[in-house]
Amino acid sequence: MYKAFFKLRQNPFEITPDPSFLFPTQGHNEALAALYYGVRRHKGFVVLTGEVGTGKTLLVRCLLQLLKSSDVAFAYVFNSRLSALEFLQYVTVDFGLVAAGKNKSELLLQLGSFLVARHQRSLTTLLIADEAHLLSAEVLEEIRLLTNLETPHSKLLQILLVGQPELDEKLDSAELRQLKQRIALRSQLLPLDLDETRGYVVRRLQLAGADSHANALFPKETIKEVYLHSRGIPRVTNTLCENALISAYARQLQSVPPEIINEVASDFRLNVTGKARVDEAGRSDWKELWQAVKTLLELHSQLRGDAPSQQQASMHPFLGAGKHQPIV
Ligand SMILES: Nc1ncnc2c1ncn2[C@@H]1O[C@H](COP(=O)(O)OP(=O)(O)OP(=O)(O)O)[C@@H](O)[C@H]1O
Ligand SMILES: [Mg+2]
Repeated sequence: MYKAFFKLRQNPFEITPDPSFLFPTQGHNEALAALYYGVRRHKGFVVLTGEVGTGKTLLVRCLLQLLKSSDVAFAYVFNSRLSALEFLQYVTVDFGLVAAGKNKSELLLQLGSFLVARHQRSLTTLLIADEAHLLSAEVLEEIRLLTNLETPHSKLLQILLVGQPELDEKLDSAELRQLKQRIALRSQLLPLDLDETRGYVVRRLQLAGADSHANALFPKETIKEVYLHSRGIPRVTNTLCENALISAYARQLQSVPPEIINEVASDFRLNVTGKARVDEAGRSDWKELWQAVKTLLELHSQLRGDAPSQQQASMHPFLGAGKHQPIV
């Protein structure tokens, strides 16, 4: 509706997690590097947590883009309201195997043979559970048992659990202490700071087609208001900015004044806090790997035909959400 008025090609503040809109804050970069490292180095269990709307699913999609041309087969579970049996059935089918008519032990046997066969061909197999904070203790225990499939040297199945901070609490419970001990890598995604929020808004506007007017559209004072109300949560920032653009358009304003953000914010009751951090024993090790990831990202940018600056090179490396294609 407002695109022509603001000279934009597309909507800058969609709330669907689109990898081509990634704004690589240090926190997002580090978390993505940790995920990539955990999978490529067969670390076994990797956990990513973060507040609602901080970009966890977006990072999973970015990871899948990075792994797209490699030898990684993955199952992606995002419906957490499953029983243990339904979970196994879902994973089996997502790996391209047959689940119909099989009982639990048959499913496990089939999965085991599949993992061994892939391991013998030096192929990586990954299970991703998004919204994992909603998984029952029963399903989490089933996942732990899957990590028992291993050789003396390597885990046959790489597992990535992604969820809101309640997942950390769940993993801290006595009931799940065996699972907790198996986690090789933990990463936490936190909200953006003020500068990052500014970069985030401008970057999304640029990717949507704004050129030199990207900064003018949301002046400094306006971004401050966005940050105050969103507290650095990207999804909330998107909602505020999207509604602010609609309001500004309705009033035929070429620039969004801070008052509009206040008005939009008063329609929403928003309350989140935090700051980014990543934990891992071999931090320097995966930082080294991040250099490799960065090179990959620069290649992606070049493939897109961009002439990226040093900073931009890693900004939009992913060419769309990508199709989830299991490699059997
Ligand atoms: N670094 C980023 N760059 C660009 N967009 C981002 C970034 N981080 C988050 N977003 C955007 O914020 C919105 C929310 O992201 P996403 O759905 O990945 O959050 P989430 O952490 O998975 O939330 P939930 O806990 O509700 O599942 C999406 O539109 C996503 O594209
Ligand atoms: Mg999500």
